Amino acid sequence: MWRHMAKSVQLLVDGKPHDFPVVTGSEGEQGFDITKLRADTGLITLDPGYGNTGSCQSAITFIDGDKGVLRYRGIPIEEFAGNPDFIEVAWLLIFGRLPNQEESTRFRARLTANAHLHEAMKYHFEGFPADAPPMAMLSAMINTLGCFHAEMHALKGDELFEEAAARLISKIRTIAAFIYRRLHGLPYMYADPKLRYCANLLHMMFSMPHDQHRVDPEIEKALNLIFVLHADHEQNCSTSTVRMVGSSKANLFASVSAGVCALWGPLHGGANVEVLEMLEQIHKGGLTADNYIEMAKQKGSGVRLMGFGHRVYKNYDPRAKMLQGISDRVLTKLNVKDPLLDIARRLEEQALKDDYFVARKLYPNVDFYSGIIMRAMGIPTSMFTVMFAIGRLPGWIAHWKEQSEESTSRIARPRQIYTGPVDKHYVPIEQR
Ligand code: CMC
Repeated sequence: MWRHMAKSVQLLVDGKPHDFPVVTGSEGEQGFDITKLRADTGLITLDPGYGNTGSCQSAITFIDGDKGVLRYRGIPIEEFAGNPDFIEVAWLLIFGRLPNQEESTRFRARLTANAHLHEAMKYHFEGFPADAPPMAMLSAMINTLGCFHAEMHALKGDELFEEAAARLISKIRTIAAFIYRRLHGLPYMYADPKLRYCANLLHMMFSMPHDQHRVDPEIEKALNLIFVLHADHEQNCSTSTVRMVGSSKANLFASVSAGVCALWGPLHGGANVEVLEMLEQIHKGGLTADNYIEMAKQKGSGVRLMGFGHRVYKNYDPRAKMLQGISDRVLTKLNVKDPLLDIARRLEEQALKDDYFVARKLYPNVDFYSGIIMRAMGIPTSMFTVMFAIGRLPGWIAHWKEQSEESTSRIARPRQIYTGPVDKHYVPIEQR
């Protein structure tokens, strides 16, 4: 039986009270600290999916899922719409405040200086089959990158950390572009130091040696916004993975490489691919948005409305709202008439007034619109989650740094309730 108190929580175990201190965050959310629970009571908590478990205290990102609020280092996400670029946001997340002019210039110079990969890494790309999954390549190549920068495995001090962060943020872009070129059998294009971060990525993906890809400022702006909106989302599956791996003191490259694998899954970053596949399935299969919604509502149909629902947001995902606006502008600018966008709008319209979705508080999430915008930019569906990873990288780095600097940080090692057989004995193979 639980009884809430003002400053602590009391748990009665077989009638004996045990007090646990309440920890209050800067936005007023509360959790009670059960660090001593097992030692005091012999019990552990059971929370599959960790929906009620705070794995850490963090000063990076705040989400109020009921109100649809998202803030980076205290700044509402909406304020990033027209202002800072992705690089400024990355520095903010990692170092805790907006960079001044000198810091911003220095960080950008580091990014430019680090845009190229070691030439030997090209051979690693060649070793992948032509149809290798891009996220597998991305994870493998980030770990490979760690082999080329072994001096960055132990990161002491902000100066070295800034260099490591710049290397990763700059080189992930080159790796992503090279993955695209490898998959399409195109010659690798090197970064152009005159271009900004997003324009340079599009250049490395789409330029040809004889024909420089012209990047429309509106498209560059849209890609920048996609990256900014994906930059951090507190303790999601991939970020928790980065923290989990980092808690064993694994280096930053290895930890981020693991984060990429976690992001790959269709219930996480892979959902942007699933959204497009769902829209295509509706379009090509002659279904209507309404048919699909009915299927998604049926238990046992195995169908979900991809791009809808969120573990934390029980309101409109503020990132989806911002992307919805820009998707209209990008499609108009590129003069794209995309039937998939019409289906997406219809799905959204219908789901938002359907009792099933309303009762479960299922709103569009960030993946619902990002795929449509990237598709209009000419980015193939198979690369969507790679783009998400580029955006999420500053968040992963920020969390890895925050955790590595905590004096109380311990290796992450959850417990379990064992439900397997008991009292069994080994039987030699000839007697089985
Ligand atoms: N379509 C239809 N029903 C849904 C959906 C959906 N997209 N999402 C949840 N539900 C239902 C679910 O069947 C359950 O119904 P009931 O209570 O009757 O059993 C109820 O809503 C609660 O669902 P849940 O699976 O317990 O919720 P969760 O918090 O474990 O899952 C989620 C969150 C995002 C995995 C889930 O909503 C989902 O699968 N959405 C589609 C995939 C998607 O868009 N993922 C991207 C997430 S945002 C990007 C990111 O952060 O990675």
